[in-house]
Amino acid sequence: MRVLGLETTCDETEAAVVEANAGQDGRILSNVVLSQIAEHAPYGGVVPEIAARAHVEALDRIIKKAMHDAGKLDFADLDGIAAAAGPGLIGGVMIGLTMGKAIALASSKPLVAVNHLEAHALTARLTDKASFPYLLLLMSGGHTQLVAVLGVGDYVRIGTTLDDAIGEAFDKVGKLLGLPFPGGPQIELNSRDGDPARFDFPRPMHGRETPDFSLSGLKTAVRQVVQAHGHLEQADIADVCASFQAAILDIVVDRTRAGLREFRKRFGLPQALVVAGGVAANSVIRQALLRLASETGLRLALPPPALCTDNGAMIAWAGIERLRLGMTDGLDFAPRPRWPLDRQMEKIAGAKA
Ligand code: KG4
Ligand code: ZN
Repeated sequence: MRVLGLETTCDETEAAVVEANAGQDGRILSNVVLSQIAEHAPYGGVVPEIAARAHVEALDRIIKKAMHDAGKLDFADLDGIAAAAGPGLIGGVMIGLTMGKAIALASSKPLVAVNHLEAHALTARLTDKASFPYLLLLMSGGHTQLVAVLGVGDYVRIGTTLDDAIGEAFDKVGKLLGLPFPGGPQIELNSRDGDPARFDFPRPMHGRETPDFSLSGLKTAVRQVVQAHGHLEQADIADVCASFQAAILDIVVDRTRAGLREFRKRFGLPQALVVAGGVAANSVIRQALLRLASETGLRLALPPPALCTDNGAMIAWAGIERLRLGMTDGLDFAPRPRWPLDRQMEKIAGAKA
């Protein structure tokens, strides 16, 4: 089975072809990523109108390249078209989904409208052959969630952020420090020469039973330090970055522990701890999660950084998972700017769409 996946929900235009054999092993045949970072950088964040225009201009070229890289494929060589249908910036979602519908219609192939969060959740089944049920820790620019992944289409959100997403906190702190956008990779880089113990930043929600996150108090604490200092030398910036990253580390480990306790209470033992989202590209956080996994005896599935951040292969793979179960969508499927990954919420979103 071969599926083309399209991803346009944020600031990257992506297309990929993934193949799966009867034994359910997946193989990425192509994975093309066009970043719009340069277009958004002057504004210090993603500008929705600029993103939508860039998707329109690039998408057909990116699809052509994905089909070519996969072995000069034709649409006739595919078994289905998967397009991210949300959640995300509505302009971009509409462009990718409409393109997916058009290709599906023109080539008489089934369409799968994929939830972007579901695609992050299922990636570890492509990269690490993770089996259900598992605990997903999703940390991206728009989302921070702990999700019990019980099966394809069967998710229970057991924890979420009460305010900012972790990636968003990285980006906002990066902006405060005058670092280029996006802040996450810049903070990781600057932390290398910094002292993680210089600033004692707060770890909100630490020790709480419910596996929720809160980041805004930490962000405010960083802002206060930056404002109090006036001008920051490079060494100070490195110390702020390292101290902030150390706080994030503690938060991630403590909240994941709470998530594991909650998972065991409600669903028994998870088969694995699966990590996804752009923040999972951070090597210090990856090491901390490895320590947590070995300490708890849990299998850790940590996809390579390029498959933790947004990509078309995860959409194509989610398409394969759904297609295998006969879960296809009509050409009237409406884009969903909001589309939470939860049993009940999916029904509510479906009713409204
Ligand atoms: O999953 P993703 O590519 O896009 C979505 O938000 O869906 O995640 C992007 C986020 C950004 O906030 C970025 O700053 C963060 O992931 N990020 C990182 C690192 N690389 C990307 N955060 C911390 N350390 C990194 N190395
Ligand atoms: Zn994402």
